[in-house]
Amino acid sequence: MSLKRTHTCGELDIRHDGEDVNLNGWVDVRRDLGGVIFIDLRDRYGVTQVVFDQANSELHSKAEELRPEFVIGVEGKVTKRDEENINPQRKTGKIEIRVESLTIYSKAETPPFEIKDDLETGEEIRLKYRYLDLRRNQMQQNLLLRSRVCQTIRNFYNDLDFAEVETPVLMRSTPEGARDYLVPSRVNPGKFFALPQSPQTYKQLLMVSGMDRYFQIVKCFRDEDLRADRQPEFTQVDVELSFVDEDDIYKIHENLMAKIWKEHLDIDLETPFPRLTYEEAMSRYGSDKPETRFGMEISDLSEIVADCGFKIFSKTVEDGGSVLAINVPGQGKMGRGAIDRLTDEVKSKTGAGGLIYIKLENDNVNCSVGKFLEDYTVAEMAEKAGAGNGDLVLILAGQKPDVYRQMGQLRLMMGKRFEMIDKSKTHFLWVTKFPLVEWDPEIQRYHALHHPFTSPETDDLDKMDSDPASVKARAYDLVLNGNEIGGGSIRIHDQELQKKMFNLLGIGGQEAQEKFGFLLDAFKYGAPPHGGIALGLDRIIMLMSGSQSLRDVIAFPKNQKAQSTMDNCPDVVDEDQLKELHIQLRKKPSV
Ligand code: AMO
Repeated sequence: MSLKRTHTCGELDIRHDGEDVNLNGWVDVRRDLGGVIFIDLRDRYGVTQVVFDQANSELHSKAEELRPEFVIGVEGKVTKRDEENINPQRKTGKIEIRVESLTIYSKAETPPFEIKDDLETGEEIRLKYRYLDLRRNQMQQNLLLRSRVCQTIRNFYNDLDFAEVETPVLMRSTPEGARDYLVPSRVNPGKFFALPQSPQTYKQLLMVSGMDRYFQIVKCFRDEDLRADRQPEFTQVDVELSFVDEDDIYKIHENLMAKIWKEHLDIDLETPFPRLTYEEAMSRYGSDKPETRFGMEISDLSEIVADCGFKIFSKTVEDGGSVLAINVPGQGKMGRGAIDRLTDEVKSKTGAGGLIYIKLENDNVNCSVGKFLEDYTVAEMAEKAGAGNGDLVLILAGQKPDVYRQMGQLRLMMGKRFEMIDKSKTHFLWVTKFPLVEWDPEIQRYHALHHPFTSPETDDLDKMDSDPASVKARAYDLVLNGNEIGGGSIRIHDQELQKKMFNLLGIGGQEAQEKFGFLLDAFKYGAPPHGGIALGLDRIIMLMSGSQSLRDVIAFPKNQKAQSTMDNCPDVVDEDQLKELHIQLRKKPSV
C-alpha cells in the first residue's frame, strides 16, 4: 500500500461516493459493534469513520489490534452511510470508508490523558506531554489561527512597503523594564550577550540607516515574574517608521486590526478606535488598560467629603489624596457577611486600607461610617456616585495614584463577579499621553514609564528640568478588552535630548556612553524623526481564540516557573562546559 494519501481525514463527503481512497492518521476512537470494527481516523483536518467488516477475516483480526493513537494507513472505498447512520456533527459524517487494506505505521502506548477537547487533566501533565496535548483539536485550531494571522500580518505590511528585517538575538541589553536572559561568550572570557527584551535599539538604528519602514515577527525574552498573560519568551510584531507622528501609527494599526478581525473572526471593527489619555483612563477606570465593556466608572467624592469631619476622609483629602467611589447596581441587598468578606478580599488583593459602603435598600440609606457623617453628606455621596434605590456604593480613600489603581481593581472584580462585562463586544482603544517618567521611591530615581528612547511631548520640554513628573510622553498603548496588546512611542532622534533623558533617569554621561554610545553616535550622522509600536502577538491570539492563557496559543510554552518540563530545561550543565565558558557557580544547583 502506498504511503501517499489521496485525501485528508477532513475532506471526504458524498461527492466522493464510490471512489477508492488512501487515508493516513491516528486512531481516535475504536468501536467494536457486533463484529464490525469502526475506527474514527483523525488528522489535523478532521475525522473520518473507517470500517472493517468480518468478510475479510485477516484484515478484521489486524484491525482488532488497533488502539487509540496508533498511526495507520487505510485503503478503501468511500461509501454513503444509511440515513440513520449519518453524523450531522461531522463534516465527513455522511460517508465512511470500507477498508480493503490496513498498514500500521506505529503502535502507541496508552497516552497519559485522552486526546479530547473538554479535558480536565492538569496543565503540568499537558505541558510535560505537549506533543500529545497539541494533538487536541482546540490546540491545533489555536496554532492554525496563529499561523494564518501571521500570514495576514506579513501581507498587510508588505502591501504598505514595510521591509521585514531580522535583528540579532545575541545583543547588548535593551532596557524594557525586565531582567535580561544572559548568554556567556566563550571566545570573550567574562563577557555576556543579552537576549533581546525587544529589538528596540536595532529598529531605531534601521531608521537611521534609511530603511524607512520596518517590521518583524520576533521572539523577545524577559526574565520577569510570570502571569497568565506573560511568558519569558514571547513574540512581538515589531514595527518602526520614519517621518511619522502618532496619527500615522494609529491609523495603520487600526487598519491592521480591522483586517485581522474581519478575515479571521468575521467581525467588522469600527475605526478609528477611541482614544483616552492616560489621565482620563486612570480617573475614569483606575487602569491604564481599561476594560470598557461595562460602565461602573469611578466617581471622585473628595470635594463632597473634604470638610465632612470624618477623619479618614478629610485627612486623606487634606494630604492631597482622593476619596473615590463606584456604584454597583442592584447590590444594595448584599449582606453584612458578604461585605466583610469583600472588604478582606479588597484589602489583600489591592492593598487598600479598608472599604466603606453605602447601601440603598428599600429607600433606606445605610452607610458603614454613617454615624460620623451628616445624612445630607451621605446622600450627596450616593448621588455623585450615580446610585439609586437597590444599589451599593463602594468607597476607597487613599493617596494617588494607588487609590485609583485599587479602585480600578475593585471595579474589575465587581464587573466580573456580577457578570457585567458584555463578552460579545470587542473594545479596542488607544491610551495616549503617558507620563514620561515615574519616581521610584525604592531606588530614589525616576524610571521611564515606556522606555528611555521615548520622546517627551514638545510642549513639555521646558519642564524636563523643573518638574519631570509632569512631563507627558509621546507614548501610546493599544488596549483590547482590558488587555494591553501593544505599546509604542514617537522616539527621541536628537542626541542632546537623548542625553538629557538618560541624565533624568540617573544614567550619567559615562554610563550612557558605555551602554548606548552606539545609538548616540548614530544620531550624530543624520537621524530621521521616527516612531513605532510592538504588538504582543501571543496576547492577540489568546484573545481572538478565547483562550485563558498565553500557554494555550504557544506551541511549546514555559510553565509558571519559567521551565519546560517536557525537555527538562533549564538544566544543569557539565563542569567542562562551564569551564569553557569561564563560569564558576557561586552555589551548587539543586538537581
Ligand atoms: P512593550 O514592553 O510595551 O514595548 O511590549 C509590547 C507588547 O508586547 C507584549 N508583551 C508581552 N507578551 C507576553 N509576555 C510578556 N512577558 C510580554 N511583555 C510584553 C505586550 C506589550 O504591549 N520596544 C517596545 C515597543 C516600542 O516602543 O515600539 C516594547 O517592547 O502586549
